[in-house]
Amino acid sequence: MNLGVNIDHVATIRNARGENDPSVTAAAHICELSGADGITVHLREDRRHIKEKDLYLLKDVLRIPLNLEMALNDDVLSHALKVKPRMVTLVPERREEVTTEGGLDIIKNKEKTKEYTRILTENNILVSLFIEANLELESVIEEIKAQFVEIHTGYYSHVYYDEYKKKKELERFERFTQMCKNSGVRVNAGHGLNYQNVMEITQIEGIEELNIGHSIISRAVFSGLEAAVIEMKGLISGG
Ligand code: PXP
Repeated sequence: MNLGVNIDHVATIRNARGENDPSVTAAAHICELSGADGITVHLREDRRHIKEKDLYLLKDVLRIPLNLEMALNDDVLSHALKVKPRMVTLVPERREEVTTEGGLDIIKNKEKTKEYTRILTENNILVSLFIEANLELESVIEEIKAQFVEIHTGYYSHVYYDEYKKKKELERFERFTQMCKNSGVRVNAGHGLNYQNVMEITQIEGIEELNIGHSIISRAVFSGLEAAVIEMKGLISGG
């Protein structure tokens, strides 16, 4: 299982003072040298952390793949088409939210999601849909024709210490992953994963990559980014 490190919160710290420290590209380099398999950033409509300049710089300097999270927004799409990351993950976005809440509603946004998936795929960019692990989405997922889905693990991380609810979530992820694989769709997962709750997710057959941000950057404040990435990578590979 691969580790994609989300470095949005390095930009959050930088933006608190409006200067260049800490450098987002330096952070990406350290992640790369510490064993990260990819770097993830979310260019939000409100540009609250990552700015477009970061995106272009990252694409230039990174040797590992870049995964761009974005809402169904034409302005951000135009940057994606210029930058050409390896993958775009389509996510929902609300201005007032603290972080991405819930998965993308691919029923309500079906036509727009299909259109974005088509445009990105034609431009040789892989598309991933950040969605809830809902078995009823099978036919919509097949219709949209994205190559990947990313399972939203936020609720799982929330109920992690409730054995019954955790077990139900893990069973749901397993069934959903199997369903996607049977439809030829590859599976990633992320949101709210940390050093305590990641192990059970690594046991799920078929999930290829975990995208993890806040817990790694939080740990890095105390132990350094290199140690934080190495430890997470160790947990994921060991699982
Ligand atoms: N995956 C997606 C699609 C996200 O939107 C986020 C948060 O930006 C993450 C993974 C990482 O979540 P966390 O910061 O809680 O690890």
